[in-house]
Amino acid sequence: MTGALDAAEVWERLRGVRCEADAVAAGLVRAGEGGPGAGGVVGAADTARVADAADTRRAGGAADPRRAGGDDDLAPGARLLLDRYLSLCLAGPYVTFAQLGQSLDGFIATRTGDADYVTGEEDRDHLHRLRALADAVVVGAGTAVSDNPRLTVRTCSGANPVRVVIDPRGRVARDCHLFTDGSAPTLWVVGPDREDGQAVPGRVGDGVEVLTLPDREAFAPRALVRTLAARGLGRVLVEGGGVTVSRFLHERALHRLYVTVAPVLLGDGVPGIRFDGPDVMRDALRPPVRRSSVGEDTLFELDLRGEAFAGEDEGSL
Ligand SMILES: NC(=O)c1ccc[n+]([C@@H]2O[C@H](COP(=O)([O-])OP(=O)(O)OC[C@H]3O[C@@H](n4cnc5c(N)ncnc54)[C@H](OP(=O)(O)O)[C@@H]3O)[C@@H](O)[C@H]2O)c1
Repeated sequence: MTGALDAAEVWERLRGVRCEADAVAAGLVRAGEGGPGAGGVVGAADTARVADAADTRRAGGAADPRRAGGDDDLAPGARLLLDRYLSLCLAGPYVTFAQLGQSLDGFIATRTGDADYVTGEEDRDHLHRLRALADAVVVGAGTAVSDNPRLTVRTCSGANPVRVVIDPRGRVARDCHLFTDGSAPTLWVVGPDREDGQAVPGRVGDGVEVLTLPDREAFAPRALVRTLAARGLGRVLVEGGGVTVSRFLHERALHRLYVTVAPVLLGDGVPGIRFDGPDVMRDALRPPVRRSSVGEDTLFELDLRGEAFAGEDEGSL
């Protein structure tokens, strides 16, 4: 396979794609292939590329080496990256996506809060790639307290996103990694008062900005997305936990949701997605979905664009 793009090269190219023109310049799609629908879980670009590769084979011709479109152009692993992430990259500069790893019975951690680890190594690689494609990674106070996460990109190449902690009561410890390790800028989003009645400090450590929102309404997911977009953080990964992702989902602030299901049963634990559901199955949320295997786990990629930001002009973000 002379000149085939390997997975590392495809990943480097993908990381630079924020619109169709970027993808064309990177040789990942042809002009017109990344048009309307391309930001979906199975975008127009994917369809066009598959069709084109088939045409090329039927015609007995060689694939265009400039373009990672046909199977002939791609080394093993590169095709998977392109299929999984190109549509997200083509979703544009404003996209909110969430990821959760859960057990078969719908829990994201044990009842003691241990989430180390629910899903397998390949899913963690996937999570790090999502971080690398995001401008900001958001977690709720529960996750910051329970996991003391770093939220950095470690298993693939890519810049660390800005780390955002939603902590209206200011309960996250000042000595947690996010506030002390200096690995990436951190935005600590707090309400006016701490749960112990003390005012939240205006300054924490180097690289940590305290953003004090005036009231609960300012913490509504759509308002938070607008606040981040106004700071140049248009691509937002909501990384957990269940309460935070559920709020974003229920308030239609997500364009896409990745849920990785591991073949493990916990019986009880920290719930994943929970919201006021419908009374009858016919009213259930059934967005377009794409399934794929990630090691022993199954990744479900839900296209929520039909739901997201309903009634709002996304262009105003
Ligand atoms: N398997 C996975 O994929 C995964 C991923 C992440 C975390 N986890 C696990 O999940 C557990 C934590 O999840 P969790 O669901 O309990 O908590 P969480 O979602 O991490 O945090 C929820 C809290 O964050 C604050 N918050 C989030 N969004 C808000 C909003 N829009 N407005 C106001 N406040 C908001 C609230 O803080 P207040 O309560 O202070 O008001 C809320 O109670 C941990 O055990 C962690 O290990 C698993």
